[in-house]
Amino acid sequence: MTVCEYRPGLEGIPAAQSSISYVDGQKGILEYRGIKIEELAEKCTFLETAYLLIWGELPTKEDLEEFETEIRYHRRIKYSIRDMMKCFPDSGHPMDALQTSAAALGLFYSRRALDDPAYIRQAVVRLLAKTPSLVAAFQLMRKGNDPIQPNDDLDYATNFLYMLTERKPKPLAAKIFDVCLTLHAEHTMNASTFSARVTASTLTDPYAVVASAVGTLAGPLHGGANEEVLLMLEEIGSVANVRAYVEKCVENKQKIMGFGHRVYKVKDPRATILQHLAERLFYELGSDEYYDIALELEKIVEEKYGAKGIYANVDFYSGLLYRKLGIPTDLFTPIFAIARVAGWLAHWKEQLAANRIFRPTQVYTGLHDIAYVPIDERVSVNNNNGSHGKIY
Ligand code: SDX
Repeated sequence: MTVCEYRPGLEGIPAAQSSISYVDGQKGILEYRGIKIEELAEKCTFLETAYLLIWGELPTKEDLEEFETEIRYHRRIKYSIRDMMKCFPDSGHPMDALQTSAAALGLFYSRRALDDPAYIRQAVVRLLAKTPSLVAAFQLMRKGNDPIQPNDDLDYATNFLYMLTERKPKPLAAKIFDVCLTLHAEHTMNASTFSARVTASTLTDPYAVVASAVGTLAGPLHGGANEEVLLMLEEIGSVANVRAYVEKCVENKQKIMGFGHRVYKVKDPRATILQHLAERLFYELGSDEYYDIALELEKIVEEKYGAKGIYANVDFYSGLLYRKLGIPTDLFTPIFAIARVAGWLAHWKEQLAANRIFRPTQVYTGLHDIAYVPIDERVSVNNNNGSHGKIY
Protein backbone atom coordinates (compact mmCIF):
# COMPACT_ATOMS: atom_id res chain seq x y z
CA MET A 1 0.00 0.00 0.00
CA THR A 2 1.32 3.47 -0.91
CA VAL A 3 1.47 5.75 2.11
CA CYS A 4 0.32 9.24 1.13
CA GLU A 5 1.56 12.44 2.67
CA TYR A 6 -0.85 14.19 5.02
CA ARG A 7 -2.98 16.82 3.26
CA PRO A 8 -5.03 19.15 5.49
CA GLY A 9 -8.68 18.96 4.51
CA LEU A 10 -7.85 15.88 2.40
CA GLU A 11 -7.30 18.25 -0.51
CA GLY A 12 -7.05 16.37 -3.78
CA ILE A 13 -7.44 12.94 -2.16
CA PRO A 14 -10.19 10.77 -3.68
CA ALA A 15 -12.50 9.41 -0.97
CA ALA A 16 -14.67 7.29 -3.26
CA GLN A 17 -15.28 6.18 -6.82
CA SER A 18 -18.49 7.81 -7.94
CA SER A 19 -20.56 8.15 -11.09
CA ILE A 20 -23.11 10.57 -9.61
CA SER A 21 -21.69 13.98 -10.49
CA TYR A 22 -18.64 15.62 -12.01
CA VAL A 23 -16.98 19.00 -11.54
CA ASP A 24 -14.29 20.60 -13.70
CA GLY A 25 -13.15 23.42 -11.46
CA GLN A 26 -10.94 25.07 -14.06
CA LYS A 27 -13.61 25.25 -16.74
CA GLY A 28 -16.59 25.78 -14.42
CA ILE A 29 -18.42 22.62 -15.50
CA LEU A 30 -20.88 20.66 -13.35
CA GLU A 31 -22.68 17.54 -14.55
CA TYR A 32 -25.15 15.24 -12.82
CA ARG A 33 -24.84 11.72 -14.26
CA GLY A 34 -23.08 13.24 -17.26
CA ILE A 35 -25.75 15.87 -18.02
CA LYS A 36 -24.73 19.53 -17.80
CA ILE A 37 -26.28 21.46 -14.91
CA GLU A 38 -27.41 24.25 -17.28
CA GLU A 39 -29.53 21.78 -19.23
CA LEU A 40 -31.02 20.18 -16.12
CA ALA A 41 -31.82 23.60 -14.63
CA GLU A 42 -33.69 24.55 -17.78
CA LYS A 43 -35.51 21.31 -18.57
CA CYS A 44 -35.83 19.15 -15.45
CA THR A 45 -37.86 19.42 -12.30
CA PHE A 46 -36.17 18.84 -8.96
CA LEU A 47 -37.83 15.45 -8.45
CA GLU A 48 -36.84 14.38 -11.95
CA THR A 49 -33.28 15.40 -11.08
CA ALA A 50 -33.45 13.56 -7.75
CA TYR A 51 -34.58 10.43 -9.59
CA LEU A 52 -31.70 10.82 -12.04
CA LEU A 53 -29.17 11.20 -9.24
CA ILE A 54 -30.49 8.36 -7.09
CA TRP A 55 -31.39 5.79 -9.75
CA GLY A 56 -28.77 6.74 -12.29
CA GLU A 57 -30.99 7.60 -15.24
CA LEU A 58 -33.74 9.99 -16.20
CA PRO A 59 -37.18 8.59 -15.36
CA THR A 60 -39.75 7.73 -18.01
CA LYS A 61 -43.02 9.65 -17.77
CA GLU A 62 -44.61 6.73 -15.91
CA ASP A 63 -41.64 6.32 -13.55
CA LEU A 64 -41.71 10.00 -12.70
CA GLU A 65 -45.46 10.03 -12.10
CA GLU A 66 -45.17 7.04 -9.79
CA PHE A 67 -42.25 8.63 -7.91
CA GLU A 68 -44.08 11.96 -7.52
CA THR A 69 -47.23 10.20 -6.33
CA GLU A 70 -45.32 8.22 -3.71
CA ILE A 71 -43.66 11.39 -2.48
CA ARG A 72 -46.98 13.26 -2.24
CA TYR A 73 -48.34 10.37 -0.19
CA HIS A 74 -45.47 10.50 2.32
CA ARG A 75 -45.28 14.25 2.94
CA ARG A 76 -47.15 14.20 6.23
CA ILE A 77 -45.20 13.89 9.45
CA LYS A 78 -46.41 11.91 12.43
CA TYR A 79 -48.08 13.86 15.20
CA SER A 80 -45.58 12.54 17.72
CA ILE A 81 -42.75 14.05 15.69
CA ARG A 82 -44.69 17.31 15.60
CA ASP A 83 -45.20 17.05 19.38
CA MET A 84 -41.50 16.48 19.85
CA MET A 85 -40.73 19.52 17.66
CA LYS A 86 -43.09 21.66 19.72
CA CYS A 87 -40.61 21.22 22.59
CA PHE A 88 -37.76 22.68 20.54
CA PRO A 89 -36.83 26.21 21.67
CA ASP A 90 -38.24 28.90 19.36
CA SER A 91 -34.81 30.51 19.38
CA GLY A 92 -33.10 27.35 18.12
CA HIS A 93 -31.62 27.42 14.64
CA PRO A 94 -33.79 25.65 12.02
CA MET A 95 -30.77 23.57 10.93
CA ASP A 96 -30.49 22.15 14.44
CA ALA A 97 -34.23 21.48 14.41
CA LEU A 98 -33.87 19.73 11.05
CA GLN A 99 -30.93 17.63 12.17
CA THR A 100 -32.80 16.51 15.28
CA SER A 101 -36.08 15.81 13.52
CA ALA A 102 -34.40 13.97 10.62
CA ALA A 103 -32.64 11.74 13.15
CA ALA A 104 -35.98 11.25 14.94
CA LEU A 105 -37.47 9.75 11.79
CA GLY A 106 -35.18 6.81 12.48
CA LEU A 107 -37.13 6.13 15.68
CA PHE A 108 -40.33 5.67 13.72
CA TYR A 109 -38.96 3.80 10.72
CA SER A 110 -36.36 1.76 12.53
CA ARG A 111 -36.29 -1.34 10.34
CA ARG A 112 -32.84 -1.54 8.83
CA ALA A 113 -32.93 -3.72 5.72
CA LEU A 114 -30.17 -2.32 3.59
CA ASP A 115 -30.21 -5.25 1.18
CA ASP A 116 -33.93 -4.88 0.46
CA PRO A 117 -34.63 -2.65 -2.59
CA ALA A 118 -38.14 -1.93 -1.27
CA TYR A 119 -36.67 -0.60 1.98
CA ILE A 120 -34.21 1.58 0.05
CA ARG A 121 -37.00 2.97 -2.13
CA GLN A 122 -39.19 3.69 0.89
CA ALA A 123 -36.39 5.47 2.75
CA VAL A 124 -35.61 7.59 -0.33
CA VAL A 125 -39.26 8.52 -0.72
CA ARG A 126 -39.75 9.27 2.97
CA LEU A 127 -36.69 11.46 3.27
CA LEU A 128 -37.40 13.43 0.10
CA ALA A 129 -41.05 13.78 1.06
CA LYS A 130 -40.70 14.65 4.72
CA THR A 131 -37.65 16.93 4.82
CA PRO A 132 -39.55 19.97 3.45
CA SER A 133 -42.42 19.22 5.85
CA LEU A 134 -40.02 19.17 8.82
CA VAL A 135 -38.51 22.52 7.80
CA ALA A 136 -41.92 24.14 7.27
CA ALA A 137 -43.35 22.66 10.48
CA PHE A 138 -40.56 24.12 12.61
CA GLN A 139 -40.97 27.50 10.95
CA LEU A 140 -44.69 27.59 11.83
CA MET A 141 -44.31 26.13 15.31
CA ARG A 142 -41.59 28.54 16.38
CA LYS A 143 -44.08 31.32 15.62
CA GLY A 144 -46.61 29.60 17.87
CA ASN A 145 -48.76 28.20 15.06
CA ASP A 146 -49.76 24.69 14.10
CA PRO A 147 -47.96 23.29 11.06
CA ILE A 148 -49.83 23.50 7.76
CA GLN A 149 -50.71 20.14 6.27
CA PRO A 150 -49.26 19.44 2.82
CA ASN A 151 -51.58 20.00 -0.12
CA ASP A 152 -51.73 16.91 -2.32
CA ASP A 153 -52.69 18.96 -5.38
CA LEU A 154 -49.44 20.86 -5.33
CA ASP A 155 -46.08 19.90 -6.76
CA TYR A 156 -42.97 19.59 -4.61
CA ALA A 157 -41.72 23.19 -4.74
CA THR A 158 -45.15 24.81 -4.69
CA ASN A 159 -46.21 22.70 -1.74
CA PHE A 160 -43.15 23.66 0.30
CA LEU A 161 -43.73 27.38 -0.24
CA TYR A 162 -47.42 26.83 0.53
CA MET A 163 -46.58 25.02 3.79
CA LEU A 164 -44.48 28.01 4.87
CA THR A 165 -47.23 30.59 4.35
CA GLU A 166 -50.57 28.80 3.66
CA ARG A 167 -50.64 30.77 0.42
CA LYS A 168 -50.03 29.37 -3.01
CA PRO A 169 -46.95 31.05 -4.49
CA LYS A 170 -46.98 32.62 -7.94
CA PRO A 171 -46.08 30.00 -10.58
CA LEU A 172 -42.87 31.87 -11.46
CA ALA A 173 -41.79 31.89 -7.80
CA ALA A 174 -42.42 28.14 -7.48
CA LYS A 175 -40.65 27.44 -10.77
CA ILE A 176 -37.58 29.43 -9.74
CA PHE A 177 -37.54 27.78 -6.33
CA ASP A 178 -37.67 24.37 -8.00
CA VAL A 179 -34.65 25.29 -10.16
CA CYS A 180 -32.79 26.38 -7.01
CA LEU A 181 -33.41 22.91 -5.57
CA THR A 182 -32.04 21.29 -8.73
CA LEU A 183 -28.91 23.46 -8.57
CA HIS A 184 -28.24 22.47 -4.95
CA ALA A 185 -29.08 18.78 -5.28
CA GLU A 186 -25.58 17.34 -5.60
CA HIS A 187 -21.93 18.36 -5.75
CA THR A 188 -19.38 15.51 -5.69
CA MET A 189 -17.40 14.91 -2.48
CA ASN A 190 -18.27 18.05 -0.53
CA ALA A 191 -18.04 17.97 3.28
CA SER A 192 -21.65 16.97 4.01
CA THR A 193 -21.65 14.27 1.34
CA PHE A 194 -18.41 12.91 2.73
CA SER A 195 -20.06 12.90 6.15
CA ALA A 196 -23.06 11.06 4.68
CA ARG A 197 -20.82 8.44 3.08
CA VAL A 198 -18.79 7.91 6.24
CA THR A 199 -21.99 7.42 8.23
CA ALA A 200 -23.45 5.18 5.51
CA SER A 201 -20.32 3.04 5.51
CA THR A 202 -21.10 1.83 9.05
CA LEU A 203 -24.38 0.37 7.69
CA THR A 204 -26.49 2.52 9.99
CA ASP A 205 -29.93 3.70 8.91
CA PRO A 206 -30.51 6.38 6.23
CA TYR A 207 -32.06 8.82 8.72
CA ALA A 208 -28.78 8.87 10.65
CA VAL A 209 -26.97 9.35 7.32
CA VAL A 210 -29.06 12.41 6.50
CA ALA A 211 -28.92 13.76 10.08
CA SER A 212 -25.13 13.61 10.09
CA ALA A 213 -24.97 15.32 6.70
CA VAL A 214 -27.36 18.08 7.85
CA GLY A 215 -25.11 18.77 10.83
CA THR A 216 -22.13 19.08 8.51
CA LEU A 217 -23.91 21.28 5.98
CA ALA A 218 -24.87 23.76 8.70
CA GLY A 219 -21.40 25.25 9.16
CA PRO A 220 -20.59 28.68 7.69
CA LEU A 221 -17.75 27.30 5.57
CA HIS A 222 -20.26 25.04 3.80
CA GLY A 223 -24.05 25.43 3.35
CA GLY A 224 -24.32 27.90 6.22
CA ALA A 225 -22.56 30.47 4.05
CA ASN A 226 -25.81 31.38 2.23
CA GLU A 227 -27.25 32.80 5.45
CA GLU A 228 -23.97 34.58 6.23
CA VAL A 229 -23.99 36.23 2.79
CA LEU A 230 -27.31 37.92 3.48
CA LEU A 231 -26.14 39.07 6.91
CA MET A 232 -23.00 40.46 5.25
CA LEU A 233 -25.01 42.35 2.60
CA GLU A 234 -27.14 43.82 5.40
CA GLU A 235 -24.01 44.84 7.29
CA ILE A 236 -22.49 46.49 4.19
CA GLY A 237 -25.74 48.40 3.77
CA SER A 238 -24.99 50.36 0.58
CA VAL A 239 -23.01 50.17 -2.65
CA ALA A 240 -20.83 53.02 -1.45
CA ASN A 241 -19.59 50.92 1.49
CA VAL A 242 -18.54 47.86 -0.50
CA ARG A 243 -14.92 48.76 -1.31
CA ALA A 244 -14.12 49.69 2.29
CA TYR A 245 -15.74 46.46 3.48
CA VAL A 246 -13.63 44.32 1.15
CA GLU A 247 -10.47 46.22 2.02
CA LYS A 248 -11.14 45.66 5.70
CA CYS A 249 -11.59 41.92 5.06
CA VAL A 250 -8.33 41.80 3.08
CA GLU A 251 -6.49 43.63 5.85
CA ASN A 252 -7.90 41.36 8.57
CA LYS A 253 -7.53 38.22 6.43
CA GLN A 254 -11.26 37.67 6.90
CA LYS A 255 -13.02 35.32 4.49
CA ILE A 256 -15.74 36.91 2.39
CA MET A 257 -18.80 34.70 2.53
CA GLY A 258 -20.12 33.24 -0.72
CA PHE A 259 -16.68 33.34 -2.37
CA GLY A 260 -13.96 30.76 -2.88
CA HIS A 261 -14.18 27.04 -3.41
CA ARG A 262 -11.93 24.04 -2.95
CA VAL A 263 -12.58 22.86 -6.51
CA TYR A 264 -13.73 25.84 -8.61
CA LYS A 265 -11.04 28.31 -9.59
CA VAL A 266 -13.54 30.22 -11.76
CA LYS A 267 -17.10 31.38 -11.04
CA ASP A 268 -19.26 28.49 -9.87
CA PRO A 269 -21.65 27.66 -12.76
CA ARG A 270 -24.50 27.45 -10.26
CA ALA A 271 -23.80 31.03 -9.14
CA THR A 272 -24.13 32.17 -12.77
CA ILE A 273 -27.51 30.44 -13.13
CA LEU A 274 -28.72 31.71 -9.75
CA GLN A 275 -27.73 35.25 -10.70
CA HIS A 276 -29.78 35.00 -13.91
CA LEU A 277 -32.73 33.61 -11.95
CA ALA A 278 -32.44 36.46 -9.45
CA GLU A 279 -32.52 39.01 -12.27
CA ARG A 280 -35.62 37.33 -13.71
CA LEU A 281 -37.33 37.30 -10.33
CA PHE A 282 -36.48 40.94 -9.62
CA TYR A 283 -37.76 41.91 -13.06
CA GLU A 284 -41.11 40.24 -12.32
CA LEU A 285 -41.50 41.02 -8.62
CA GLY A 286 -39.56 44.25 -8.25
CA SER A 287 -35.89 44.90 -7.63
CA ASP A 288 -34.00 44.09 -4.45
CA GLU A 289 -31.97 46.72 -2.64
CA TYR A 290 -29.20 44.23 -1.89
CA TYR A 291 -28.70 43.08 -5.48
CA ASP A 292 -26.67 46.15 -6.42
CA ILE A 293 -24.52 45.66 -3.33
CA ALA A 294 -23.97 42.04 -4.34
CA LEU A 295 -22.95 43.02 -7.88
CA GLU A 296 -20.48 45.58 -6.61
CA LEU A 297 -19.12 43.11 -4.06
CA GLU A 298 -18.59 40.46 -6.72
CA LYS A 299 -16.77 43.01 -8.90
CA ILE A 300 -14.41 44.13 -6.14
CA VAL A 301 -13.73 40.63 -4.80
CA GLU A 302 -12.79 39.55 -8.34
CA GLU A 303 -10.51 42.57 -8.63
CA LYS A 304 -8.76 41.72 -5.34
CA TYR A 305 -8.85 37.92 -5.40
CA GLY A 306 -9.53 36.83 -8.99
CA ALA A 307 -5.84 36.07 -9.56
CA LYS A 308 -6.04 33.60 -6.63
CA GLY A 309 -9.01 31.85 -8.22
CA ILE A 310 -11.53 33.16 -5.70
CA TYR A 311 -14.92 33.78 -7.31
CA ALA A 312 -18.59 33.66 -6.32
CA ASN A 313 -19.84 30.22 -5.28
CA VAL A 314 -23.33 28.68 -5.09
CA ASP A 315 -24.06 30.36 -1.76
CA PHE A 316 -23.57 33.91 -3.03
CA TYR A 317 -26.79 34.58 -4.97
CA SER A 318 -29.17 31.97 -3.53
CA GLY A 319 -30.05 34.04 -0.46
CA LEU A 320 -31.09 37.02 -2.58
CA LEU A 321 -33.57 34.80 -4.38
CA TYR A 322 -34.94 33.25 -1.20
CA ARG A 323 -35.28 36.69 0.38
CA LYS A 324 -37.34 37.86 -2.59
CA LEU A 325 -39.55 34.81 -2.14
CA GLY A 326 -40.22 35.99 1.42
CA ILE A 327 -38.22 33.22 3.10
CA PRO A 328 -36.59 34.05 6.46
CA THR A 329 -32.79 34.20 6.38
CA ASP A 330 -32.21 31.33 8.79
CA LEU A 331 -34.19 28.97 6.52
CA PHE A 332 -31.73 29.39 3.64
CA THR A 333 -29.47 26.57 4.79
CA PRO A 334 -32.35 24.18 5.60
CA ILE A 335 -33.52 24.80 2.02
CA PHE A 336 -30.06 23.82 0.80
CA ALA A 337 -30.52 20.64 2.86
CA ILE A 338 -33.94 19.89 1.34
CA ALA A 339 -32.25 19.85 -2.07
CA ARG A 340 -29.07 18.07 -1.02
CA VAL A 341 -31.03 15.15 0.47
CA ALA A 342 -31.18 13.92 -3.15
CA GLY A 343 -27.39 13.90 -3.49
CA TRP A 344 -26.83 12.40 -0.03
CA LEU A 345 -29.25 9.57 -0.81
CA ALA A 346 -27.58 8.91 -4.17
CA HIS A 347 -24.25 8.63 -2.34
CA TRP A 348 -25.83 6.46 0.37
CA LYS A 349 -26.99 4.01 -2.32
CA GLU A 350 -23.67 4.12 -4.14
CA GLN A 351 -21.75 3.56 -0.89
CA LEU A 352 -23.90 0.53 0.00
CA ALA A 353 -23.37 -0.97 -3.44
CA ALA A 354 -19.61 -1.30 -2.84
CA ASN A 355 -19.26 -0.72 0.86
CA ARG A 356 -16.14 -0.73 2.95
CA ILE A 357 -16.20 1.12 6.26
CA PHE A 358 -14.28 4.43 6.20
CA ARG A 359 -11.34 4.12 8.50
CA PRO A 360 -8.51 6.40 7.41
CA THR A 361 -5.31 6.75 9.30
CA GLN A 362 -3.67 9.74 11.00
CA VAL A 363 -0.25 11.18 11.54
CA TYR A 364 0.35 10.89 15.29
CA THR A 365 2.07 13.99 16.66
CA GLY A 366 1.89 13.17 20.37
CA LEU A 367 4.40 11.67 22.79
CA HIS A 368 5.18 8.07 23.79
CA ASP A 369 6.10 6.30 27.01
CA ILE A 370 4.93 9.06 29.34
CA ALA A 371 4.80 7.99 33.00
CA TYR A 372 1.43 8.09 34.79
CA VAL A 373 1.34 10.83 37.49
CA PRO A 374 -0.95 10.24 40.51
CA ILE A 375 -3.65 12.91 40.80
CA ASP A 376 -2.27 14.52 43.97
CA GLU A 377 1.08 15.11 42.34
CA ARG A 378 -0.18 16.77 39.16
CA VAL A 379 0.47 20.42 38.44
CA SER A 380 -2.15 22.30 36.43
CA VAL A 381 -0.95 23.36 33.01
CA ASN A 382 -3.97 25.67 32.51
CA ASN A 383 -3.48 29.33 33.31
CA ASN A 384 -7.18 29.92 33.95
CA ASN A 385 -6.94 29.04 37.67
CA GLY A 386 -8.60 25.72 37.00
CA SER A 387 -11.92 27.35 36.09
CA HIS A 388 -11.94 25.81 32.58
CA GLY A 389 -14.40 28.49 31.50
CA LYS A 390 -17.07 27.38 34.01
CA ILE A 391 -20.43 28.99 33.41
CA TYR A 392 -21.86 28.45 36.89
C1 SDX B 1 -20.29 25.18 -0.38
O1 SDX B 1 -17.24 21.54 -1.55
C2 SDX B 1 -18.33 21.81 -2.13
O2 SDX B 1 -18.60 21.37 -3.20
C3 SDX B 1 -19.25 22.72 -1.34
C4 SDX B 1 -20.47 23.29 -2.07
C5 SDX B 1 -21.52 22.22 -2.34
O3 SDX B 1 -22.34 22.40 -3.24
O4 SDX B 1 -21.58 21.23 -1.60
O5 SDX B 1 -20.12 23.90 -3.28
C6 SDX B 1 -21.22 24.31 -1.17
O6 SDX B 1 -19.94 24.82 0.71
C7 SDX B 1 -19.81 26.47 -0.99
C8 SDX B 1 -18.77 27.20 -0.13
C9 SDX B 1 -19.45 28.09 0.89
N1 SDX B 1 -18.51 28.72 1.81
C10 SDX B 1 -18.19 30.03 1.76
O7 SDX B 1 -18.64 30.77 0.92
C11 SDX B 1 -17.29 30.50 2.88
C12 SDX B 1 -16.18 31.36 2.32
N2 SDX B 1 -15.28 30.54 1.55
C13 SDX B 1 -14.21 29.91 2.15
O8 SDX B 1 -14.04 29.88 3.51
C14 SDX B 1 -13.40 28.90 1.36
O9 SDX B 1 -13.20 29.42 0.08
C15 SDX B 1 -13.95 27.47 1.29
C16 SDX B 1 -14.28 26.92 2.65
C17 SDX B 1 -15.18 27.43 0.42
C18 SDX B 1 -12.86 26.58 0.65
O10 SDX B 1 -11.82 26.42 1.54
P1 SDX B 1 -10.36 25.84 1.15
O11 SDX B 1 -10.41 25.13 -0.12
O12 SDX B 1 -9.87 25.11 2.35
O13 SDX B 1 -9.52 27.14 0.91
P2 SDX B 1 -8.74 27.98 2.02
O14 SDX B 1 -9.67 28.40 3.09
O15 SDX B 1 -7.54 27.16 2.46
O16 SDX B 1 -8.29 29.23 1.20
C19 SDX B 1 -7.22 29.19 0.26
C20 SDX B 1 -6.74 30.59 0.08
C21 SDX B 1 -6.40 31.26 1.41
O17 SDX B 1 -5.46 32.29 1.12
P3 SDX B 1 -3.90 32.00 1.44
O18 SDX B 1 -3.79 31.69 2.91
O19 SDX B 1 -3.48 30.86 0.59
O20 SDX B 1 -3.23 33.29 1.08
O21 SDX B 1 -7.79 31.40 -0.49
C22 SDX B 1 -8.21 32.40 0.45
C23 SDX B 1 -7.68 31.93 1.81
O22 SDX B 1 -7.51 32.98 2.69
N3 SDX B 1 -9.68 32.43 0.45
C24 SDX B 1 -10.43 33.48 0.67
C25 SDX B 1 -11.75 33.05 0.58
N4 SDX B 1 -11.76 31.76 0.30
C26 SDX B 1 -10.49 31.37 0.24
N5 SDX B 1 -10.11 34.75 0.94
C27 SDX B 1 -11.14 35.62 1.12
N6 SDX B 1 -12.45 35.26 1.05
C28 SDX B 1 -12.77 34.00 0.77
N7 SDX B 1 -14.06 33.65 0.71
